[in-house]
Amino acid sequence: MCGIFSYIGASASAPSVILDGLKTLEYRGYDSWGIAVKYGRKIALEKNVGKIGGATVSLPKSTVGIGHTRWATHGGVTVKNAHPHLDCTEKLALLHNGIIENYETLRHRLRSKRHRFRSETDTEVAVHMIEENMQEGMDFLQAVRNAFVQFSGLNAIVVMNSDTEQIVAAKNGSPLVVGRGSNAFYLASDASGIVRHTKEIHFLKDNELVVLDTSVALYDVTTGNKLPVRFETIDWKVEEASLGNFPHFMIKEIFDQPKVIRTIANTYADQIDDLADVIKTAKGTFLIGAGTAYHASLAGVYLFSKIAKEHLNTAMASEFNYLEDFLTKRSLVIALSQSGETIDIVEPLTRAKGKGSTIFALVNTLGSTIYRMADRKLLLGAGPEKAVASTKAYIAKLSILLMLSFAMIKRTSEAKKLLLSAADEVERLLKDQPVRALEQLSDTLSKKQHIFTVGRGLSFATALEAALKIKEVSYIHTEGLAGGELKHGTIALIEKGTPCIVFAPSDETYEAIISNAMEIKARGGTIIGISPIRAEVFDHWIEVKDIKDASIIPQIIPAQLLSYLLAVRKGFDPDKPRNLAKSVTVK
Ligand code: AGP
Ligand code: GLU
Repeated sequence: MCGIFSYIGASASAPSVILDGLKTLEYRGYDSWGIAVKYGRKIALEKNVGKIGGATVSLPKSTVGIGHTRWATHGGVTVKNAHPHLDCTEKLALLHNGIIENYETLRHRLRSKRHRFRSETDTEVAVHMIEENMQEGMDFLQAVRNAFVQFSGLNAIVVMNSDTEQIVAAKNGSPLVVGRGSNAFYLASDASGIVRHTKEIHFLKDNELVVLDTSVALYDVTTGNKLPVRFETIDWKVEEASLGNFPHFMIKEIFDQPKVIRTIANTYADQIDDLADVIKTAKGTFLIGAGTAYHASLAGVYLFSKIAKEHLNTAMASEFNYLEDFLTKRSLVIALSQSGETIDIVEPLTRAKGKGSTIFALVNTLGSTIYRMADRKLLLGAGPEKAVASTKAYIAKLSILLMLSFAMIKRTSEAKKLLLSAADEVERLLKDQPVRALEQLSDTLSKKQHIFTVGRGLSFATALEAALKIKEVSYIHTEGLAGGELKHGTIALIEKGTPCIVFAPSDETYEAIISNAMEIKARGGTIIGISPIRAEVFDHWIEVKDIKDASIIPQIIPAQLLSYLLAVRKGFDPDKPRNLAKSVTVK
């Protein structure tokens, strides 16, 4: 939920190196940004509201600097609230990821010692606490350590001292990565910003504190004990996500999906067989994820029931915190996450590990926090997903979960055939004619205030995912629900012309969901049917061919395209929707 990039080294190009680093990390949070560099014995600072985009900076040359892209939690989106924040002496600059939950108490105490606050953020208390500690005689390292251990909540801070020409950072919960280059050190939210400079990486663990100047030193933030710092040479090339001929990453990633499905179909069987074995030995398996990843988890429960006749549990990651008391050392928790950084997953996983449960990571980002926490891991293999709205990572999760369901009953080859057929159908849906039909539909829907998406069984997960896609990029209020739930309240909202997208595959849910469509129609609703069959009740029909149990894969494509078309038609940036971020690292 924020991008951090810092540099200390022999080159005086800190401003430009940091700006480029922030641009690669901007997908993590982008409501404002700022860079601070050492300038003589003082600090030069530049802060802006809005996305970095193609911005330049007019900061002086410097060998030390820190930079941040913000996702606001405390205090509005203003220049004053953007990071980095300075102390009263203007010799310290600090940036932060997370929430200092006890900031009000700390701020009250600091105000009583006449510290002047410029912002409304929780963050700013940190830099004044460090200043206060130094005024009381602590050295820079001690001052940072003493302050950090007083914060409650999950945080990462990076502090620059223009006097000592040092950068000190500490974390618990939010991610921080150190890179060691030739005559330089880098500090970033994830490795993707660093690997263009160096492959020597140290992933900071929780409660580690690092001191960077011409050398690197690592400490335990609670005890102050010095720790050995081990850099690993990562051999992964960070696939640069390029737009190619596409206008936005979202549409490019939608068009990547046939290839993603085929890769999984053709190359994942052995790894998925391994995961099936892990599930068979577990006593209780839980699929957890947030947002789109939760929808994939929910689909996994239905797929396991239908195909493997096995029971899996699922929970929204943020709710799993309150559900995991029954975990044992025989439990298996499968965490689904594109970024591998979602704090709603990291927290319950930490507790699950504490109970001795086995953690399996199904993530799209190598080296991410969840990837590194897990006992076993399997990469989604979807390639970098830059658009905030997840599409190909979702399809990858569904493809893996479908294959996993068949692997449980030793019928992986059948899954492969279904996935290849699903990839062909996705490819067909991405051709000009179906997309043009959706463009016309998006013209009508773009004027609507409310949209409903409805499905049953596996298509209930599709309904939830379709609703999320439409609302998060077009800002049209969209509610996804199970067909059977309509009559228990939501149907009260149906008026003349209320658009309802109905998912009606040729499966055991077809008759019942068509009845639901009739109930909506009887109250004036407009029915957009996504189905292999042109049912009479449909006012608009989008054909999605029957791919049996894999129908859930092509079924979401029209909704993905529709959400993209709506966003573009309404003049919004589909890749960076307002208020959102690609990697959610604050609660
Ligand atoms: C997906 O379109 C949303 N942007 C969001 O719900 C996302 O799925 C969620 O934040 C989880 O992200 P993750 O897969 O990186 O953990
Ligand atoms: N809580 C801090 C703020 O609102 C940090 C936000 C972030 O992680 O970007 O400024």
